[in-house]
Amino acid sequence: MNLQSNSNNIILIGFMCSGKSTVSKLLHKNTGKLTLDSDLIISNNHEMTIEDIFSKHGEEYFRKLEYQFCESIKNSVRDSIISTGGGIPTIYDVRQMGLVFYLDIPFEIVLERTKDRSNRPLLSNIDNALNIYNARKQIYKNLSDFKIDATRNANDIVMDIVSKI
Ligand code: S3P
Repeated sequence: MNLQSNSNNIILIGFMCSGKSTVSKLLHKNTGKLTLDSDLIISNNHEMTIEDIFSKHGEEYFRKLEYQFCESIKNSVRDSIISTGGGIPTIYDVRQMGLVFYLDIPFEIVLERTKDRSNRPLLSNIDNALNIYNARKQIYKNLSDFKIDATRNANDIVMDIVSKI
């Protein structure tokens, strides 16, 4: 059950390359809600790329920044679409921020969609990435209000989400 459904926020969760940013932009066009992207905001606030934050400060530091981002959303953001970095559900109960949609894709599609993995530190080693993917699937499922088949084209995904809000 959703903990904070009165915020009217749409929360997009899912593994890297599941299409959260693309779906978020299309949802904005469709619903008029504002869009917020955790990676973009963290990166802008620190004037550093995500890769640089990982390499200079480490993953644990990055997760703290993600946690702070989520707390600020929970307390102040309404009527928005929040696209979350793939690791956020491992450190935060995303249901506190709004209605949660899990964009589900098989690992093979993650690989297909990431010809260039250099800008995602956790995808640089495929075996490691598969382990993370497998460990996270259940977390994403448990924390979502809806599991969305994200292998379809973005328009169909958006229509599916809009029909559920
Ligand atoms: C991460 C996902 C990335 C980014 C960082 C870590 C993860 O975001 O936050 O590289 O732990 O899954 P996207 O899911 O938007 O690629």
